[in-house]
Amino acid sequence: MIYLDNSATTKPKKEVLDTFVKVNEQFYANPASLHELGNQAEDLLETARSQLKELLHMEKIIFTSGGTEANNLALIGTARNYQHRGKHIITSETEHPSVLKSVAALESEGFEITRLPVGNFGEINIDKLKNSLRNDTILVSLMHVNNEIGTVHPIAEIAHLLKKRRIFFHVDAVQSVGKLQFDPTAMPNLLSISGHKIHGLKGSGVLAYTGVELQAIQYGGGQESALRSGTVSVPNAVALAKALRLTEPNPLYNQWNQELRQFFSEFAGIKIVSPENGASYILSVAVKGLKGEILVSGLQKESVIVSTSSACSSKNSQASPVIRAIGLPREFKDGVIRISFGELTTEQDIQALKKAFQRVYRMIKGV
Ligand SMILES: Cc1ncc(COP(=O)(O)O)c(C=O)c1O
Repeated sequence: MIYLDNSATTKPKKEVLDTFVKVNEQFYANPASLHELGNQAEDLLETARSQLKELLHMEKIIFTSGGTEANNLALIGTARNYQHRGKHIITSETEHPSVLKSVAALESEGFEITRLPVGNFGEINIDKLKNSLRNDTILVSLMHVNNEIGTVHPIAEIAHLLKKRRIFFHVDAVQSVGKLQFDPTAMPNLLSISGHKIHGLKGSGVLAYTGVELQAIQYGGGQESALRSGTVSVPNAVALAKALRLTEPNPLYNQWNQELRQFFSEFAGIKIVSPENGASYILSVAVKGLKGEILVSGLQKESVIVSTSSACSSKNSQASPVIRAIGLPREFKDGVIRISFGELTTEQDIQALKKAFQRVYRMIKGV
């Protein structure tokens, strides 16, 4: 199988799996226990935490079960903690459901939410963001890279802007960490990451934060500074640090992206959905008058795995909220497919995709 659905998830690297198994075998004690084995597990956990702080340029780390939990804690934990300052939060229309549904929950608690519209390539307008800032704005939450079409938001610029206004900034970096460079001098206050998007493990993630205090959203034994109660999975934490240390974006992403853009532009009735200046490892295209599912299943028969849009919405028959937000013409809306590269993608995979697509397209269109 040629796997080109790395935005949905990535294959764990062997070294990461080995680390996970080894830590489970040797350091299985509860890191909160007082005995020697507990201390050893705790030491390992703290080493992983220090490595992540350094790699992410952030001061504090909370281990979570993934990006979804990190996003929930970032938004709800910050909003509830600073509601005395104001109850206005800004986000965009194209965020991941874990952000959109967290802000919807906050709305029902009395917070006011501004959802910034986006342009045809998923880009936000910085002037619109500036004009939306109010005296009672406490938090802005924007993703770094859009998971469906690859739009990159200028987070360093926004971080500078918000710092001046003393407004907290949360970035969902699930699709960018380990792939794009961050400016260490312009980091947001809160950063969500997920293990399974960087050839790590599902069920592992981190909320990294600096210069902000959170209120807990789950209660129990008080682990993770009482912000994320529950026995910490040391093997998951260590494996996540390992996965992040090992990330090495392929220098060919950009070349493949350009090559595929050229390839798809030669078909009549195919529109490139992803922005030219987006993340090179995500390429979404739309085929006029066709259902994306038909292409996905046709390609699967040729042993090539791609997806319609996000994994979260790919089983819904309706166009995803992102596709609706970018205003794709009606005849293209249902025909979106997303091709996403990972570190294990090869040149042969790209050539196989092109050949398979040609065959499937011809067969479906009868040309
Ligand atoms: C941008 C973005 N944020 C958050 C998530 C959720 O991460 P997880 O699957 O680790 O909960 C995803 C996963 O698809 C994502 O793409």
